[in-house]
Amino acid sequence: MENKQRENWGSRIGFLMAAAGSAVGLGNIWRFPYMAGENGGSAFILIYLAFALIIGISIMISEFAVGRRTELSAVGAYQSINRNWTFAGVLGVLSAFFIMGFYPVVGGWALAYILKSVTGLLSNSAAIGDAFGAFITNPIEPLIWMLVFLAMNIAIVAKGIAGGIEKAGKVLMPTLFVLLILIAARSVTLPGAGAGLDFLFKPDFSKVTGATYLAALGQAFFSLSLGMGCMITYGSYLGKSENLASNAFIVTVLDTSVALLAGIAIFPALFAFGMEPAVGAGLVFVVVPQIFAAMGGIGVLFSVIFFVALAVAALTSSVSLLEVVVAYLIDQRKWERKKSVYTAGGIMVVTGILASLSLGVMSGFTMFGVGVFDFFDILTDKIFLAIGGLLLAVFVGWFMDKKDLEDEITNGGTIKFGLFNIWYNLVKYVIPVAIAIVAVMGIMSIEQTGLMLFGLAVIVVLAIFSKKL
Ligand code: TRP
Repeated sequence: MENKQRENWGSRIGFLMAAAGSAVGLGNIWRFPYMAGENGGSAFILIYLAFALIIGISIMISEFAVGRRTELSAVGAYQSINRNWTFAGVLGVLSAFFIMGFYPVVGGWALAYILKSVTGLLSNSAAIGDAFGAFITNPIEPLIWMLVFLAMNIAIVAKGIAGGIEKAGKVLMPTLFVLLILIAARSVTLPGAGAGLDFLFKPDFSKVTGATYLAALGQAFFSLSLGMGCMITYGSYLGKSENLASNAFIVTVLDTSVALLAGIAIFPALFAFGMEPAVGAGLVFVVVPQIFAAMGGIGVLFSVIFFVALAVAALTSSVSLLEVVVAYLIDQRKWERKKSVYTAGGIMVVTGILASLSLGVMSGFTMFGVGVFDFFDILTDKIFLAIGGLLLAVFVGWFMDKKDLEDEITNGGTIKFGLFNIWYNLVKYVIPVAIAIVAVMGIMSIEQTGLMLFGLAVIVVLAIFSKKL
């Protein structure tokens, strides 16, 4: 019997902040608006909301339950219940590496824009778009910021995640929220903003294809930190008296509100400035500075606060990704925390450099038709997370004991969860079928079919070979 107590969150609010901190990040503010922009706006957003609120909450409750039941991170949690399922946990660790292949690049952009806000970026609003393009394709500058961002992750996770990062999040997450409301208020009152609101809220299903559904599903998993064992790992540090279902509900609602708010901040302004909605990954770095530029001197201050808050939101998310790898090395390989962090971080330095350079000098190097940055992004978001969520649902529904689940979610019968049966049937029957349909339709209508099939092949190979891990 081990007598060492598992690390635990400092307090109830500590866990909620950490889980919300993991969920709210670049996924909401950088990724959600540009995915919505590229996928036609309102119809995508409606599908996204349905997926987040039905599939997302259910999967989050499941991940918390698996983590707290086993008190182990992804790989160990699956393995301790059924050895044949080890691969699903390993897939999660691989997903963490892949997401951390590109996430720190964008985190670095956010850091860079704090400084750029005070060094003249806002003084010529016509040049803001070109400045972004020049910045991310530069071989040195974004690389340095990416390394700074990764170093912050490594320093935080080496100390254990409950601590400094919790405190920073407690102040800066609410700041970010308030700031987004202010930006949204400015954005919707610009002349010509109405077209942006139509784009966001008047659904046009004529352009919806299988790829739209897959993009919305992937975005929901990405934004809620689901489908790769992150919330299993965070749940494993969770006290036995916490209410899993209400925590999952709060985190999902918070995360979804931040994404919607980011949309309302960006699209009305975008249309007011006469720009195209499908501008891609530069969206938030181009539109938001333009809003600030139009405010005059005070805009510089707002811009600094915004990008500080964005960088912190990114940091509270990326540490949760690094933690998935580190917790695996600690739980399964019995490594020390520091050794685990430096090893995983070292690998991420290499992948981050490749991803950053792939937007500039290395853009000629492609795999399955896409560069390194997109390779990591598309593979995780469009395949690994969705399939990871499907595997988790099948595992919980068909390989875990229903009584155990009820016991875990109701804290041994001490709290009520009136929706237990609905949740259980969703997870056991509806969600696996729904994800499978979306994945098949998506793979058939997406451009990068080769990459998708490669991703599926990776999962099959893992399933065959990972029993020894
Ligand atoms: N949810 C985070 C965001 O929106 C990113 C993230 C953190 C994540 N942990 C994750 C995505 C686990 C998928 C899985 O920025």
